[in-house]
Amino acid sequence: MSAEIRPISGGRFERIGAHSHIKGLGLDGLKALPVADGMVGQTEAREAAGIIVRMIKEGKMAGRAILLAGPPGTGKTAIAIAIAKELGADVPFVALSGSEIYSAEMKKTEVLMQAMRKAIGVRLHEFRKVYEGEVTSFDVKFTRHPYNPYQQMPESARLTLETTDDKRTFSVGSTITMAMINQGITVGDVIQIDAETGRVIRVGRSEKAAEKFEIAAISEKPVPRPSGNVEKEKEFVYTMTLHDLDEMSARRSGGLLSLFFGGPERAEIDPEVRQRVDEMVKERVEEGTAEIIPGVLFIDEVAMLDIEAFAFLNRAMESDLAPVIILASNRGITKVRGTDIESPHGMPLDLLDRLLIITTRSYTAEEVKEILKIRMKEEGVDVEEEALDLLTKIGAETSLRYAVQMIRPAAEVAKEAGRKAISVADVERVSELFADVRKSTKYLREYEQRMLA
Ligand SMILES: Nc1ncnc2c1ncn2[C@@H]1O[C@H](COP(=O)(O)OP(=O)(O)OP(=O)(O)O)[C@@H](O)[C@H]1O
Ligand SMILES: [Mg+2]
Repeated sequence: MSAEIRPISGGRFERIGAHSHIKGLGLDGLKALPVADGMVGQTEAREAAGIIVRMIKEGKMAGRAILLAGPPGTGKTAIAIAIAKELGADVPFVALSGSEIYSAEMKKTEVLMQAMRKAIGVRLHEFRKVYEGEVTSFDVKFTRHPYNPYQQMPESARLTLETTDDKRTFSVGSTITMAMINQGITVGDVIQIDAETGRVIRVGRSEKAAEKFEIAAISEKPVPRPSGNVEKEKEFVYTMTLHDLDEMSARRSGGLLSLFFGGPERAEIDPEVRQRVDEMVKERVEEGTAEIIPGVLFIDEVAMLDIEAFAFLNRAMESDLAPVIILASNRGITKVRGTDIESPHGMPLDLLDRLLIITTRSYTAEEVKEILKIRMKEEGVDVEEEALDLLTKIGAETSLRYAVQMIRPAAEVAKEAGRKAISVADVERVSELFADVRKSTKYLREYEQRMLA
């Protein structure tokens, strides 16, 4: 028997709201369907991404890097997210924007190092001795509080745990007693007590106890009464990332579960700690009590990285515990940050040289229209046919991104006017009020002299 404990690692997914309609790459085998999983067109790029997904799943991509290159609003970020969806929840996927490496608290290379290590999963198997069963009696003995004679506090308890085959009664001390009271554990609950640490885990309400009441107070799914002996060796499976292990190892105290109670968020980690973790993981892999799950580190807007960061990435890709790195860029030939060298995508040539490059192309008007329709459905917005045509025209002329961003404001304007669906007037109004990049650049050029330099 095994239990899966999965820590919730820092969610970096807020910025993905604009891509909530993307459910996958929309492939049938390795062939892209014209419209599927929220994806429209861009078939070659999606098919290439499909091959990458296969390679990642087969573990043949670790330490390699891919570049998604194409004009703004052509679905690079959308494809990266679709790759994450295709990989499933078991494969870590970490998203980072190039500019995020410049933080006040940490060195650039430390931010990158942590991101890389968040993108490598480790599944650890641990056997622990536990007492497990349904609580069939729980009698607490109280004593007077040492400082407050009017207050009673639990001193110890007698506890009976039953399985379908076994029954044991224990006397337990104040720590376990308090832990049980604090979690509201009562007769009829199935619990586990870790023999070594005394940590109490409430598994759930037992089916048998739940049957007694027609209407249960809490709407939780009852669990069966465990079988076998009350005292047993149980296998626990923890899925965490190398970064989680680094942090735990840096804190050292508390063991695996201290992870759930957090700690200092943004601190640099000593290279020696990482080395220790790597050794421990490798040893356990050899022993057969751990598996490594190489995931994906996605770095969007890669031209924001500088020469130091690129050098670090280049080196890191060589290490044997490296994730798959997916980069995205909408820049043409531009300066590599921190140098005077012009280079495609603002990336050093030696790094570019070892990338697999997937290009995305601009959309046709029909594709823009189809994507806008999907986004409107996703946002629960209605639109009149002519208004959709106008927005499509705007999207094809400016950028898909701009047209997608106009949906919400247009819906607000329509609502204010008492309309259920977006009309042509609403689209015209918001395109007057909000500038796209080109309009705003033109404005800047015209008024440059009068603005603050
Ligand atoms: N092929 C597609 N199918 C469905 N939706 C798409 C597709 N391509 C892009 N989108 C959607 O259009 C919007 C803009 O695309 P996205 O942000 O992925 O472009 P990008 O190439 O990353 O642009 P940038 O270079 O500006 O970062 C997003 O809401 C995205 O989800
Ligand atoms: Mg993008």
